Amino acid sequence: MSERTLVILKPSAVERGLIGEIVGRLERKGLRLVQARLMRMSRDEAERLYSVHRGKPFYEDLVRTISSGKVVVMIWEGRSAIEVVRRLIGSTDPVKAEPGTIRGDLGLDLTDNLIHASDSVESFEREGVIFFTSEELKS
Ligand code: CMP
Repeated sequence: MSERTLVILKPSAVERGLIGEIVGRLERKGLRLVQARLMRMSRDEAERLYSVHRGKPFYEDLVRTISSGKVVVMIWEGRSAIEVVRRLIGSTDPVKAEPGTIRGDLGLDLTDNLIHASDSVESFEREGVIFFTSEELKS
């Protein structure tokens, strides 16, 4: 079934010039880009995005890192897009991510692991509204 997912290229991915590489991988898989915005995330948006991690030891670092520079916030669409994107990205820790995945091939740091993607339909519904209007989420 066709579904949508939120993908965020973290500041390190933008700074390292990896936008084209990562977007290209998602496109070549057959996913369709339906929204994209190059922006600097506010502290408030970062806290909302990572609210489930509040209280964890890495929370402050996470919020600071994602709001430290420009990010690309995107919505991708396709068959089982949430699972497909998670598999293309690889494990959270780039050390453990399989070669062939985005984190496995391009990343090393755990907090600054290049890319974020929604892990469920519920997460997409919660995360999407932080960055896009209801009109943008549908069109
Ligand atoms: P992301 O997919 O953006 O979602 C939550 C983020 O928390 C995750 O990627 C990592 O960047 C970060 N994270 C998860 N676990 C740890 C950890 N043990 N130490 C540091 N950062 C972590």
